[in-house]
Amino acid sequence: MAFPRGEDLKVTLEGAAKNYRAVWFENGRVKMIDQRTLPHRFEIVDFGRCAEVAEAIRNMTVRGAPSIGAAAAYGMALASLEELDLAEAARLLKASRPTANDLFFAVDHMLRQIDLGCDLVEAGDRYADDIVQRCSLIGEHGAALIKNGDRVMTHCNAGALASVDVGTALAPIRVAWYAGKRIFVYVSETRPRLQGMRLTAWELANEGIPHSIIADGASGHFMKDDIDMIIVGADRIAGNGDFANKIGTYEKAVLAKELGIPFYAAAPISTFDFSIDSGQKIPIENRDEGEILEIEGVRIAPKTSRALNPAFDVTPCKFVEGFITEVGVLAPGDIHKIRGGASDF
Ligand code: MRU
Repeated sequence: MAFPRGEDLKVTLEGAAKNYRAVWFENGRVKMIDQRTLPHRFEIVDFGRCAEVAEAIRNMTVRGAPSIGAAAAYGMALASLEELDLAEAARLLKASRPTANDLFFAVDHMLRQIDLGCDLVEAGDRYADDIVQRCSLIGEHGAALIKNGDRVMTHCNAGALASVDVGTALAPIRVAWYAGKRIFVYVSETRPRLQGMRLTAWELANEGIPHSIIADGASGHFMKDDIDMIIVGADRIAGNGDFANKIGTYEKAVLAKELGIPFYAAAPISTFDFSIDSGQKIPIENRDEGEILEIEGVRIAPKTSRALNPAFDVTPCKFVEGFITEVGVLAPGDIHKIRGGASDF
């Protein structure tokens, strides 16, 4: 699917007809769309050192679980070109962010490729291609759940930017839309970093998919009468189906259950962590309080106030109608069936 050019891009790219992935490898460098400057500036940044890729993950130049995984895979490829100690490079990349399982999954996958004697640049490309393929399947399976006329809510950005291409939560929405279904998307703004308003809305606007941005606090108001289903992405899904996703997911899931709105999490197998049996064991990233206290670098809060800034919350499995994966839509009780699937990567 790649990124169709929107009006903003035409200006920035001076009419160059080119589609992009969120992250890719070219001429010995890792390239990525800088997700911090969208939707106002479309910028490609590139890195020639593994340590720079680790920093780009940390500072969220690249973000979203599958894109973080692919960036880390390419970070390992750079480390091999730099002739670094690959175990040390793996540790550095794994320390960049704690919650998204895909990061750890991708680095471990690359370590196995070394043992198999593979070229790590080619292995990184295969990893990224594989994620895109899996997201396309998520789109096909998930689109079958969306009826003509449905109003779908999503949270954060689980689109092409977050997943190399296509998306996880946005994939079913895209497939349904291109199949001719009349749909409307409610995009929650996703404080504090506004991935919904800045990134999801940008992706939907570029493709002309009807949507409105709503304040995070307005979710309940709209869910009461106006939402038919909710699809979100996931950063890590524990063996019992509890899952971490962007802060603000949990409250939507609880309310969805109360209101009888089907609530789905969409994710590839790389996001499942069967080494932990409960969401309580998912490490939750706490980010800098400045993300809450300031807006665009301007302090809004009183000088002496402090803030708490967990980047993710954990939604218990009992609130989930199903997991939309590349092998189909799984009832929460059925996710153990994909336990061995990770070895297919
Ligand atoms: O902090 P972020 O922007 O990396 O958080 C991203 C999310 O929470 C996404 O919903 C999740 O990674 C799924 S992306 C397909």
